[in-house]
Amino acid sequence: MVEVRLGLECVVLAAGKGTRMRSSSAKVVHEVAGRPLLHYVLDAARGAGAARIIVVVGHDAEAVSGAAEAWRAEREENARVTLAFAVQAEQRGTGHAAAQAVPHLSGTCNAVLLLCGDTPLLRPESLAQLCAGAEAQAEAQVALLTARTDAPGAYGRIIRREGQVAAIREAKDATPQELALTEVNPGVYVFERGFLERTLPELGSHNAQGEVYLTDLVERAAAVWDLPVPFLETLGVNDQADLAEAQAVLYARRARGLAQSGVRVADLNRLQVGPDVTVAAGAALAVDVTLAGRTRVAAGAQIGQGCVLHAVEVAEDARLLPYCVASEARIGPRAQVGPFVQLRPKATLEADTKVGNFSEIKAARLGAGAKVNHLSYVGDADVGERVNLGAGTIVCNYDGMQKWPTVIEADVFVGSDCQLVAPLRIGAGAYVATGTTVTVNVPAGALAVGRARQSNKDGYATRLRKRLAARLKPTA
Ligand code: UD1
Ligand code: MG
Repeated sequence: MVEVRLGLECVVLAAGKGTRMRSSSAKVVHEVAGRPLLHYVLDAARGAGAARIIVVVGHDAEAVSGAAEAWRAEREENARVTLAFAVQAEQRGTGHAAAQAVPHLSGTCNAVLLLCGDTPLLRPESLAQLCAGAEAQAEAQVALLTARTDAPGAYGRIIRREGQVAAIREAKDATPQELALTEVNPGVYVFERGFLERTLPELGSHNAQGEVYLTDLVERAAAVWDLPVPFLETLGVNDQADLAEAQAVLYARRARGLAQSGVRVADLNRLQVGPDVTVAAGAALAVDVTLAGRTRVAAGAQIGQGCVLHAVEVAEDARLLPYCVASEARIGPRAQVGPFVQLRPKATLEADTKVGNFSEIKAARLGAGAKVNHLSYVGDADVGERVNLGAGTIVCNYDGMQKWPTVIEADVFVGSDCQLVAPLRIGAGAYVATGTTVTVNVPAGALAVGRARQSNKDGYATRLRKRLAARLKPTA
């Protein structure tokens, strides 16, 4: 093929419904590791050097083209790619889908990289190698990836004659001997443009599925060149099991990338890190950690087992003990959180704070060095530096109609099991006695105590027990 890489344009087939997904949305907009399947394929196409990508849409066209536009808006390098859409109104097979794209190829296009929208594990390196190979093989009209697997299932089988790829047989049309073949078609091709244009209109649909098969082009080519790649890379997502498998592979790839960049990763197969997350070298991630949204983890931070963070900023040397859930929160340097803590949106923990087990913080700032160590709720509050909220402190921010703010100034000490009824201000250095329900502002330096005075009745418990025992029914 001549000048493949110079005049390369890419066609992505994404018009199918994906019946086997048993889902109401189009297959290629299903997400893996936080992104639609289609995004991974577009990444691979761009990575292979395609400056123009034509997406064939049909079923749920609006959602699919929306996903493609979202990909373009995602990054600067994506925005440099020209996107075009071809519509396949009726899904009559992959060959028919490809034919809809042909009129959209530009005048300078010599070769067409054709991908399916459901193969998220393709690496750009393999596509680039395929293009380079296609260019080096002057007489080849088709270059394609091939892969070997012990479970060829529904993949098209590669038929070879004298070592060369001669045809592709769809599983539904294959003889038992052909079905036994373990070399399969990943559905990734480079076609010489002229060959594609001339031959696509010749394809019929006399086969088991009554569809126009793109794969029928192969036996019509004068010469075919193929590049074997690992099967895993070519995984086509056709049902929910494939989707889960692809996601596991993508997460594991990300975990490996993080580990190679200097992040301590406990288990490459037990980490779920989303595409927009950044983790600095020197941070540590335990098993079963999920990091999503624009979460940022700084150097020296440690995220404990089972933590789930969405759009959270974790500063240097902060420590999350196991099983914390946080969303849209900021965790300051050297803060210690958990185990079993929930940080809800707009929770801000300044440097050296501590939030301990079974505590919940919402729309509240904890000043540097403040401690909320056990069983507390702090909502809509501004908590000063070095404040200590004792076990079971509850900020009562809601009166059934609306939320009210609470201000607790620096160095306040709140004893255990107190309720702070908002709106409220507790002045600097004040002391709230254990078991107090605070309903009015406390001046700085004061002691607030509001609880019934204790009285002890000597011998009462002993007498009570005797009385109760006398009433016991005799047992048989
Ligand atoms: C196809 C190949 C098969 C290969 C496999 C690899 C054909 C005939 N078969 O089968 O050899 O092993 O991919 O994953 O090509 N699409 C359209 N319009 C249509 C039909 C499909 O746009 O009318 C799109 C789908 O949205 C999908 C892609 O083409 O993204 C592949 O279609 P799919 O139905 O998944 O084909 P497979 O059965 O997997
Ligand atoms: Mg498929």
